[in-house]
Amino acid sequence: MDTTKPIDRRSLLRGGAAVGAAMTFGPWDASADVAQPAAGTIKVGVIGCGSVSRPYLSHLARCPLVELVSVCDILPDRARQAADRHKIPHHYPHIDPMLAGASFDLFVNLTDMQEHERLNELALEAGRHVWSEKPIANSLDAGQRLLELARKKGVRLWGAPTVVQSPQFAFMAKTLGEGKLGRLAAAHASYGHLGPNWASFFYTEGGGSLPDLGVYSLTTLTGLLGPAQSVVAMTSVVTPTRQITGRGEITVTAEDNAMILLDHGNGVLSHVQSGFNYFTPHEHSSTQQDHHTISLTGTGGSMSLAGYDWAPHAVDLATREHHRFQRHADARSDYVWENGASLVAECLATGREPLFTPEHALHVVEIMTAANESQKTGQRIPIRSTFPWPVL
Ligand SMILES: NC(=O)c1ccc[n+]([C@@H]2O[C@H](COP(=O)([O-])OP(=O)(O)OC[C@H]3O[C@@H](n4cnc5c(N)ncnc54)[C@H](O)[C@@H]3O)[C@@H](O)[C@H]2O)c1
Repeated sequence: MDTTKPIDRRSLLRGGAAVGAAMTFGPWDASADVAQPAAGTIKVGVIGCGSVSRPYLSHLARCPLVELVSVCDILPDRARQAADRHKIPHHYPHIDPMLAGASFDLFVNLTDMQEHERLNELALEAGRHVWSEKPIANSLDAGQRLLELARKKGVRLWGAPTVVQSPQFAFMAKTLGEGKLGRLAAAHASYGHLGPNWASFFYTEGGGSLPDLGVYSLTTLTGLLGPAQSVVAMTSVVTPTRQITGRGEITVTAEDNAMILLDHGNGVLSHVQSGFNYFTPHEHSSTQQDHHTISLTGTGGSMSLAGYDWAPHAVDLATREHHRFQRHADARSDYVWENGASLVAECLATGREPLFTPEHALHVVEIMTAANESQKTGQRIPIRSTFPWPVL
């Protein structure tokens, strides 16, 4: 696969399936506990029944195009409890009996970051579509092999995050496309908190603040500004040991503090910072916070996102014509960060395409591995991969 040329999304996605690319969810009763299965539903198996499975399973359980068939966790009590909570008929303590057991179409991977690549491969080999929490794989090469395997098996592979689906992302992409910021120059994104305390994988090799947090900002900024061509980064460990619930003290071996510079070509530069040592006066879990987490600026205007890109609620825009920031894209919407598995189930059922692509997810994987390489070598690292862009 030639990964060096930007792919035009509009020529990649042909026919009616592409027209609905800016889709949101179909209407359903979000207050209902369990959706009524309809004809043509997608059977879903979920692996990993920890923290993130709670919002995921609630969302999936409300999606009328989804039938939750099985859950799996190597901690069997977690799988059993998840099955009980959502009336899911089958639960398993290991991926092998899960794949050999009750039949399902879509494998939803919510396990430790380091496990995704291996488990995604097993599911693809077994002919299942895959939705994976980030990252899809541990490296670009491994991810591209998974994508090839998916094509060979006639199934699909997608991964979090889904930030490009939000109305705020759509507004920013449209504003840039209309040239309202003039000659674009620079962008900045910041995302951090004090770090999870429920699992050690966030702090060991294959983990870190970049694949857990920076991944959102990298997806948004490459989605808006285009594929990165090269990367310079510095990373560090600020807190060398952590207390993890049920584990005690662990040694931190992955970065917990990262700064990345990206060259998007045509003179456009961006900066992303992420970390597990960020005190924030605004609660991380609050979706109503108003501070700017992402900003873009050019010769004719400046635009900032209010709230995080995974829970955005408005875009503030100032231009030569309107010097004061004006608020846009602040209407309530269906967008929530935990929508990915439900959205791909809807896509599989209807044939419509989402805006996020596996190529984009793998481009971000390459940027994150390049950032670690840049820290190790002190070098600027070229980026090989690209993805369908613009994302509109
Ligand atoms: N927790 C969040 O708020 C959040 C939000 C967005 C994304 N994520 C992402 O979701 C993923 C999971 O994070 P989490 O916070 O839920 O972690 P977690 O530790 O709470 O849950 C992970 C679960 O996966 C299980 N597991 C690990 N290896 C397994 C295997 N081989 N087979 C079956 N089960 C296995 C573990 O036993 C655990 O129950 C990560 O990629 C994380 O970056 C988490």
